[in-house]
Amino acid sequence: PRSVLFSRHGESLYNLDQRLGGDPSLSPNGRKYAEALPGLIEKLLGDQSLTVWTSTMRRTAETAAGLPYKKLSWKALDELDAGLCDGLTYEDVEREYPDEYAMRDENKFEFRYRGGESYRDVVLRLEPVIMELERQQNIMIVSHQAVLRCIYAYFLDIGPEELPYLKIPLHTVMKLTWTAYGCDVQMYKIDI
Ligand code: G3H
Repeated sequence: PRSVLFSRHGESLYNLDQRLGGDPSLSPNGRKYAEALPGLIEKLLGDQSLTVWTSTMRRTAETAAGLPYKKLSWKALDELDAGLCDGLTYEDVEREYPDEYAMRDENKFEFRYRGGESYRDVVLRLEPVIMELERQQNIMIVSHQAVLRCIYAYFLDIGPEELPYLKIPLHTVMKLTWTAYGCDVQMYKIDI
């Protein structure tokens, strides 16, 4: 059966204080995840080959750095662009842009950050990635929470209400396998 591997980047310096966007490097724990990842992937693959797709952001490249496979970086795999709120913490956003904060809460899928993107925008820009994914074998995607929510929702047929709240945990490889009955999900957490 066909399958695809996903992972978020390892914990970043911005994840530590729940800051949005930016182009931060990995935190010390994130680096430990990146170091442990090749061993896990090797175990999952056996003797199969792999191509790793990352975003163009530092934190995904750093996460994939130790994986001994062909790599391709896609701008379309970059994190949801928070526009004006890029670099702020959720607390900053709530304080400085209370209206936007409330609007996002009301309809998280459609809400578009000023100067940035909505989840719907991300779904649209992912179309070429998904088309290519459908044609390829043995792909691992190292990307970001919002982006992986969109890809996951596409394959599991999850709607726009649930999509922006899906839990895509850090330091966990997810394996989606297509069976006769639909899509099967397995999770492999690396304890740091
Ligand atoms: O940093 C951005 C997150 O990956 C997106 O999370 O859409 O729940 O704010 P959120």
